[in-house]
Amino acid sequence: MRHVISAKAFDRDALLGLLAEAARMQVALGRGGLRTQDGKVMAALFFEPSTRTRLSFEAAMLRLGGQVISTENAREFSSAIKGETLEDTIRVVAGYADVIVLRHHEVGAAARAARVSRVPILSAGDGAGEHPTQALLDLYTVWREVGRVEDLTVALVGDLLYGRTVHSLVYVLSRFSGIRLLCVAPDVTPLPADVREYAAAHGVRVEVEPDLHKAAQVADVVYQTRVQKERFASAADYERARGQYIVDRGLLSAMRADSIVMHPLPRAGEVAPDVDDDPRAAYFRQTHYGVPVRMALLERSLQAQVAGEPVWSESAEVQ
Ligand code: CP
Repeated sequence: MRHVISAKAFDRDALLGLLAEAARMQVALGRGGLRTQDGKVMAALFFEPSTRTRLSFEAAMLRLGGQVISTENAREFSSAIKGETLEDTIRVVAGYADVIVLRHHEVGAAARAARVSRVPILSAGDGAGEHPTQALLDLYTVWREVGRVEDLTVALVGDLLYGRTVHSLVYVLSRFSGIRLLCVAPDVTPLPADVREYAAAHGVRVEVEPDLHKAAQVADVVYQTRVQKERFASAADYERARGQYIVDRGLLSAMRADSIVMHPLPRAGEVAPDVDDDPRAAYFRQTHYGVPVRMALLERSLQAQVAGEPVWSESAEVQ
């Protein structure tokens, strides 16, 4: 079954195939979308807030001709509040939908869901763990905007400890050659050792660069992130990390003309609004690329579901 739980599951060929499929979806969107998932239902189960991931997944399913059922505050408004386990919720919803998109506050929740689900689980983020579909749209953004996914210098900026999009992006970039990562992070939010070691084991050059201006001068991509206030155990650590690295017009003047600024968004002051008009500010285009990439992922997972066990049997016989 085509679950999407970790970005590590995608090898180089799978990533290149997905980029090509997403490009095909982008063309199809320009022609009004497709009808390939007519009659199929996607459930969006979100236990944490979201704007981009939930709505772009829902838009993707609708653009494929499918339908959507959704709970946007499942922590409070699903039966989780009554003590229902995630596993039971998934067992139930898997009888209502052909694919489940799950965002959860606990690391490992998507893997737990996949263990009990009869339909594909697409992780929309698990706590401070991973956000694999964001990494896939980030890779697509780099491919479209920079023109390649190899021989890249990427400055990872901000909250590299709790930033799940960063972890998944590192795993995806690790599949390609000539990747150099410059980690520009407050000392309380470094890239986790296991993520750094994974990249190094795959031939990625990982360097710590505390000077954002120096990193920006050589980077093809400045990947800025929000300091994730909600994940900090210590308010003092959050205050130490907050506001340390800002992308502003001064930084843009240090950057190359052919580089780009990315951000998974939302932002909370770490990209100044007057950067938005610069053509190198790719972050709003990045949000829009989420639709064709998630269309490609839904197609892939739903095709696997057709090949696997059907949710509904054609037989109406009483057992
Ligand atoms: N990038 C991202 O995950 O945004 P949302 O939290 O709005 O889904």
